[in-house]
Amino acid sequence: MGLAEKRKKAAEYIKGNYSFDTSIGLILGSGLGDYSAELEDSISIPFSDIPYFPVSTIEGHSGELVLGQKYGKHIIAMNGRVHFYEGYTMKEVVFPVWVMKELGVEKLIITNAAGGLNQTFRPGDIMIIRDHLNFMGTNPLIGKNDKEIGPRFPAMTEAHPHELIELAEAAAENINLHIMKGVYLAITGPVYETTAMSKFQRLIGADAVGMSTVPELIAATHAGLKNLAVSCITDIVKDNPGEALTHEEVIAVAQRVKPVFKKLMDEIVKMI
Ligand code: HPA
Repeated sequence: MGLAEKRKKAAEYIKGNYSFDTSIGLILGSGLGDYSAELEDSISIPFSDIPYFPVSTIEGHSGELVLGQKYGKHIIAMNGRVHFYEGYTMKEVVFPVWVMKELGVEKLIITNAAGGLNQTFRPGDIMIIRDHLNFMGTNPLIGKNDKEIGPRFPAMTEAHPHELIELAEAAAENINLHIMKGVYLAITGPVYETTAMSKFQRLIGADAVGMSTVPELIAATHAGLKNLAVSCITDIVKDNPGEALTHEEVIAVAQRVKPVFKKLMDEIVKMI
């Protein structure tokens, strides 16, 4: 079965459970999935129930789709995502984005946990992604182009529309949150950076580094969606050999930031 048919089947299944048109999509990253609990009149569907949907394998990503409404808007939220480092193909990683497109989503909010490279950042900071660098060495559009979704050679200068960045800044101001803005660099993971690598990443202008988001941004931009991507800075990438980052540390900071992150998401959803 081709990808087009698969995404249609997945979308049909979701439509069978939630009949409203959803215009806003949310992808909630590591430890940040709580916002889906804020949706009203919601239903949740485990990823494993949806035909052809990839199922997450890692801790901190529960893997369910939550559909509901907030401020009169119908929202489809992914509580958890799958990553390239788990062994999925790039096309599997972004399959949910294509399903969202099929369901009528026009705006996509993507969140993640990321390591801070910018020396002015502190763990717990929140950063609006104003641009990205793809260091994954591949991307989800390699292979036959699906013209039904988008053009063969999509421009990526539109991946982070100004109006949504400005909206997120205004949302942060409304809740008195000092928010950062910067460039997100994606690596495949699952390894964290070496000291030499993070030095290089800083040198080329990255403010934060993580193992997700860029594939989804590429697929969504190709599909004509308007994106807003936000990082929770869970750690400052270590400069000294001997200082080791752990996944537990990342999850602990994401947990601590949850309340403010949720507040920001809510304000963004209200304003969008
Ligand atoms: N590096 C890569 N990915 C990450 C990091 C990091 O320091 N922190 C959270 N995700």
